[in-house]
Amino acid sequence: MTISKFLPSEYTQALTSKSVSYASPSNIALIKYWGKQSVQIPKNPSVSFTLNTCKTTTTLHYEKRETFEDDFEVKVVLDGKHKPGFEAKIHQFFSRIVTYLPFVKDYTFVIDTSNSFPHSSGIASSASGLSAIALCLMDMEREMQPSIDDQYFIQKASFIARLGSGSGCRSLEGPLVVWGEHQDIKGSSDLFGISYPYEVHENFEDYQDAILLVDQGEKQVSSTVGHNLMHNHPFAPSRFDQANENILKLIEILKSGDLDAFVHLVESEALTLHAMMLTSTPYFILMKPNTLKIIDEIWEFRRETSIPVCFTLDAGANVHVLFPKKYKEEVQEFIKSTLSSYCQDKRYIFDNVGIGAIKL
Ligand code: PMV
Repeated sequence: MTISKFLPSEYTQALTSKSVSYASPSNIALIKYWGKQSVQIPKNPSVSFTLNTCKTTTTLHYEKRETFEDDFEVKVVLDGKHKPGFEAKIHQFFSRIVTYLPFVKDYTFVIDTSNSFPHSSGIASSASGLSAIALCLMDMEREMQPSIDDQYFIQKASFIARLGSGSGCRSLEGPLVVWGEHQDIKGSSDLFGISYPYEVHENFEDYQDAILLVDQGEKQVSSTVGHNLMHNHPFAPSRFDQANENILKLIEILKSGDLDAFVHLVESEALTLHAMMLTSTPYFILMKPNTLKIIDEIWEFRRETSIPVCFTLDAGANVHVLFPKKYKEEVQEFIKSTLSSYCQDKRYIFDNVGIGAIKL
């Protein structure tokens, strides 16, 4: 697979529309991506659940420029307020994608966006946000080149999203997405996410994810810095091998519906991700004391009830509590009565696995 596939051919139609809207969800990795090379190529393959409720809704407004300008003109509006602070990131994104979507120089853009999850909740909005923008831009491209088919559209949208937010390339489809080349997953690629292609047991249908908001502040170390610390990390080569092996284990688990094995694999992946942070140079810790207290409570609850509930973490202190739908009532009650007291302002979000982005 080469990137030349994503270079545009001549556009045949003029653009007549003025705006396009997409809603794109967040996602949570079961097998984690941590470590990348230029530009946004993962050092190991990852697999994620697409979420449903946590999403970004974006309308992209565009207007053709009168004269040719060798730069980008983008305004970002979040929840109705102009946010100049986000525009540098979009400029960087546009400079990465201009080779593949050259028309980004020909228009002025307003990105009008809002998140379903509370602002500054500590939930990263880059995966949902950048995937929504990528889809809007691809929609523009398809209007100018109507021969683009659905498969190419979704692959290129994921390819473009990846250049803005690595994990964002896993948000377009659902319920499970693979990103990164794995020898046993046909069609997998470092360049874009694909829908998980194998059998999934009914135990994983409508899987539940409760996101416990432990720390809603700004992270002390960004994931960009964290990924970079995997260069020359003493454990990096074995971590990348392990992720590849864990994907094989996950394929078996998803097929058999073995929830005990799922719980142990997913928790091990989360703790390994944070172990990489603890053993980076310089080292850092993104978990907070309440992250550990929640983990302890989950383990105790699991021991006492035998309900196969587990946790996973992304690059932060918040905890994702994963469980099968049939235990929804018991686990939600446990979260309300026990785990919520470890959350900042007792905040948590009940989400579940979703099917990906939609055009509005
Ligand atoms: O896409 P980024 O650069 O924000 O990195 C995401 C990394 C993790 O959330 C920690 C793991 C993952 O695979 O999503």
